[in-house]
Amino acid sequence: MKRTHATTTVMVLAMAVFSGALLRAKAPAGQDGAVTPDKQKARVERGAHLVKTMACHDCHTPWTMGPTGPHPDMTRALTGHPSDVVMPPPPPASGPWIGHMAATNTAWAGPWGVSFTANLTPDKETGLGAWTEDMFIATMRTGRHQGKGRRILPPMPVQILNALDDEDLKSVFAYLQSLPPVKNKVPAPIEAAEPPAAAEKK
Ligand code: HEC
Repeated sequence: MKRTHATTTVMVLAMAVFSGALLRAKAPAGQDGAVTPDKQKARVERGAHLVKTMACHDCHTPWTMGPTGPHPDMTRALTGHPSDVVMPPPPPASGPWIGHMAATNTAWAGPWGVSFTANLTPDKETGLGAWTEDMFIATMRTGRHQGKGRRILPPMPVQILNALDDEDLKSVFAYLQSLPPVKNKVPAPIEAAEPPAAAEKK
């Protein structure tokens, strides 16, 4: 078939429209896959909601006594076990009373040893300031510190956080990183030498 001037024009036009569509499809949401400010803002908001509803404050914010009983002290939100609250060795476990908790609800003793809640504010030395998003996600996926260190002890509900998808974990991390950094050095855990059978079964 002989190509007419008109069909050539149509083909050229069609190619122009097609390549225009390709260019538009490639138009990035953020440069090089970077998160746009709007997306980051949405993540921080979603993260704030998740942190509030997934009980992070229950354990990572020290409790204080109020007129209606003990409650998390929001002036120390998410700063972990206070460095000035030095815990004596826990009393021995007895019968079905398998563990003990501190009045601040930031330290626990049980068959795993003694654990203290982490400072989740972005302080570089004592909090999550030096953590990356990948480290945070890997921690929740593996139950190990930053995905490759020591195992994370109870009662940190790693298995619950692991049920969140990557986007939600990124949101939680984005919110935590948006908090003001607070210096509070949490003591290292004291792991039980040999976890008893009860702990192993968990
Ligand atoms: C029932 C109490 C409890 C709740 C609820 C809880 N945590 Fe924890 N969390 C802990 C304890 C205890 C540790 C310290 C464990 C250890 O040292 O092995 C910890 C440690 C951590 C760590 C540090 C892990 C590491 O590798 O050092 C991160 C991060 C963390 N929690 C995030 C969260 C977030 C985010 C939430 C809410 C979605 C949350 N936690 C809810 C008790 C809790």
